[in-house]
Amino acid sequence: MIILRLYLSLNLISMAYYSIQGIQLTDLAQQFGTPLYVYDADKIREKISVLRGSLKGFPLSIKYACKANTNLSILRIMLQNGVDLDVVSPQELALGILAGYAGNQITFTPSGVDFSEIEFAVDKGAIVNLDNLSVLEKFGQKYGSTKPCLIRIKPHVFGGGNEKIMTAHPESKFGISIHQKEEILTIVDQYKIHVIGLHQHTGSDIKDGKTFQEAASALFDFAYDFKDLEIIDLGGGFKVPYSPEDPGVDMQDVGQLMSQSFLEFSRQYGRELRLWVEPGKFLVSEAGTFLAQATVVKNDPIKTFLGINTGLNHLIRPMMYGSYHYIFNASNANSASQKAYRVVGNICETDTFSFDFNGKQDERNLNEVQEGDIIALANAGAYGFTMASHYNSRYLPAEVLIDQGKAIVIRKRETLDDLTRNQVFP
Ligand code: LLP
Repeated sequence: MIILRLYLSLNLISMAYYSIQGIQLTDLAQQFGTPLYVYDADKIREKISVLRGSLKGFPLSIKYACKANTNLSILRIMLQNGVDLDVVSPQELALGILAGYAGNQITFTPSGVDFSEIEFAVDKGAIVNLDNLSVLEKFGQKYGSTKPCLIRIKPHVFGGGNEKIMTAHPESKFGISIHQKEEILTIVDQYKIHVIGLHQHTGSDIKDGKTFQEAASALFDFAYDFKDLEIIDLGGGFKVPYSPEDPGVDMQDVGQLMSQSFLEFSRQYGRELRLWVEPGKFLVSEAGTFLAQATVVKNDPIKTFLGINTGLNHLIRPMMYGSYHYIFNASNANSASQKAYRVVGNICETDTFSFDFNGKQDERNLNEVQEGDIIALANAGAYGFTMASHYNSRYLPAEVLIDQGKAIVIRKRETLDDLTRNQVFP
C-alpha cells in the first residue's frame, strides 16, 4: 500500500514536469529546437517569495548569486522583484549593470582576484567583499575609511553536497580564516577601514538547518569585535530538489532557525542589523529544464545506452560532481512502459547524465524511448548554461523564457560565426 502510494505520488509529481505554464515541453522543443534551456519566470518569483517569507523579523536583502544563471532576462526578473545581485567577476558586474542594476545594488564577492578588479567594482559603486589579508591591506591603503566593505570569513565548518562545493572548511581557499581575527583587526585599525559587514558562505546543496546554524553562530561569535557592523551576510547554499524523492531544503524550517539566531545575535550586538543571503540555486534551479533529443537507443549486450544530442559541454554537473538530475521522457507519459537506460551525451568523452544518489554512473528508468523523443533534465536552471562550453566545437544551447504563458527566446542558438569570431586566421 505504502509502495503504491509512493509510486502514485511520484507519478503525479513527474507529470507536473511535462509542461511549463501550460506549454508542453515537446512543443517547445519543436518550436525552438534542441538542445534548449527553458526557464519558468513564475517559478523564480515563487522561490523569491518563499525565501522572503522564511526569513522574518528584521531587514533582509536577497543578493542573487548570479553565477548560477546570468541571462539578462533572468537578472531583470530579479531586479523587478527587489532582489539584488552578488557577482564574482567584473563581467558579471557589467552584466548586472546592463540588466538595469545600480552599482550599489551589487556586491562583488571575488576569490583571490587582482586588486584592479576590486578597484573596478568600487568605481562602479558596488560593495566589495574582501577575502584575503593582502587585499584588505591594499583596500585600506587605497581607500582608508572612504569606502565601505565587507570581509569574508572562513568559519571552519563542513557543509555542502560534495567536497568540490564545500567552501567553509579549514582547507578551503575561500575567505579569511576565523583564526586570523587579530591580523584582520590590526589592518582594519591601521587604515580605519569602514567594515560594514561580515560574510560567510558555507557551501552548496545544504539541507540541514544545523549546518547553517553552526556557520552562522561561528560568524556571530567572531563579530563582536567589529563595532560598525550594519550587515551580516550568511551566503547561499540552500539545497534544491534534484530528484522527486528528495524535497531539498525545508526553507520554512531553516529560515526559522536562521531568523531566530540572527535576531538573538542582533539583540546581543546591540543594534538592528540587516541580514543578507546569497542564494543561487534556490532561486533559479527548479525554474530550468534542459531539453534534448534522443538520437540513438543503443541496445548493447551489457546495457542499453540512450544517446542524446547534448553532452557535458552543455550540462556538466553530473560529470563534474556526480550530481543527480531527474531525467524523463517528455514524449512519453506512459509509465507502464519503463526501461532502464544509461543516458549519455554526444561528446567524445565519457559524458553520462544518469548518476545515482551516490555519485556513480547508473541506469535510469525512463518511459520507453524511441529515437527522436524529447528527453528532459529537470532542475537545470542553475549552473547549467553558465557552466557550458564549446567543447568539441559544438554550439551553446539556446535559452527560452516562459512568462505570462508565452515563450520567448532569450538567447539565440549559435552559428559558426560564434565559434570563429575571435580567432585570428591569417
Ligand atoms: N555565495 C557565494 C560566495 C558562493 O560562492 C556561492 C556559490 C553562492 C553564494 C551560491 O550558492 P548556491 O546558493 O547556488 O548553492 N557549480 C556548483 C555550485 C558552485 C557554487 C559556487 N558558489 C553546482 O552546480 O553544484
